[in-house]
Amino acid sequence: MPDLYAVVGNPIAHSKSPLIHAEFSRQTGQEMRYEAILAPMDAFAETVAIFRERGGKGINVTVPFKLEACNISSRLSARAHAAQAVNTLVFDGGGILGDNTDGAGLMRDIMINQEFSITAKRVLLMGAGGAARGAMLPLLKQGPSILTIANRTGQKAHELQQQFSHYGNVVSGDYADLRGEKFDLVINATSASLNGELPLLPSGIFTGESLAYDMMYGGHTPFLQFAKKDGATRLADGTGMLVEQAAESFFLWRGVRPQTAPVIEMLKKFKPRKV
Ligand code: ATR
Repeated sequence: MPDLYAVVGNPIAHSKSPLIHAEFSRQTGQEMRYEAILAPMDAFAETVAIFRERGGKGINVTVPFKLEACNISSRLSARAHAAQAVNTLVFDGGGILGDNTDGAGLMRDIMINQEFSITAKRVLLMGAGGAARGAMLPLLKQGPSILTIANRTGQKAHELQQQFSHYGNVVSGDYADLRGEKFDLVINATSASLNGELPLLPSGIFTGESLAYDMMYGGHTPFLQFAKKDGATRLADGTGMLVEQAAESFFLWRGVRPQTAPVIEMLKKFKPRKV
């Protein structure tokens, strides 16, 4: 029997993870099976326990269970602890290791695939939910000159700022506070694009060199359309992040790093979704 893995979420039918991991296992010759499992909203822990009893070796966790996955882990990696969210479970021995590969996936996509160096740059992170929290430490580790967090609910941005301010130069506010500011990198970590919405960004925040990055995948999101009109010349959706976070999970489970570029190309034709 090949080793068994799964992605667990609710909803789950849209998930591209089975396709991505099937490509990775074909490419690397790793014998494994990867399923998509719908967990009832009130039965994530039970769903994971049943999967383990079936001999499962690891799980990818998606919306809305990343926080619960944190709580059922017997130990957390440092990056999962900082994010307070788990997207990868590894079943080893008696315990469950909870890890988070989203931040690493985002960094690999920005720095390697987009060839954008974050060091000494002015970075704007939009949003203060789980996705933004997971990006904070990986971004600050790259040493931006400033990391600004903007959120519709300014208080939540302020809380993130306080939690992470000892790792670098972090400021926070709401979108109106951004008037007159310029950024080299703007990352949309809100879920606004999912509903075809756009946070109330003032115009004039991009330079001709800026990279606009939407964590949602599926091409011309409202945020990327705004960025293009506002002068950003470099635009990226979250397809690369989706594939890179999967590759990082695959590496945790199998000890082999798959090639991501061909899988990113394959996925570019799919409809908008959040990583
Ligand atoms: P995720 O896990 O995707 O980060 P979340 O924790 O629910 O999801 O956070 C959603 C984020 O998107 C929040 O920052 C939210 O802003 P608020 O904190 O003010 O609610 C942001 N968001 C969602 N819809 C938005 C919209 N239409 N405009 C601006 N921000 C929005």
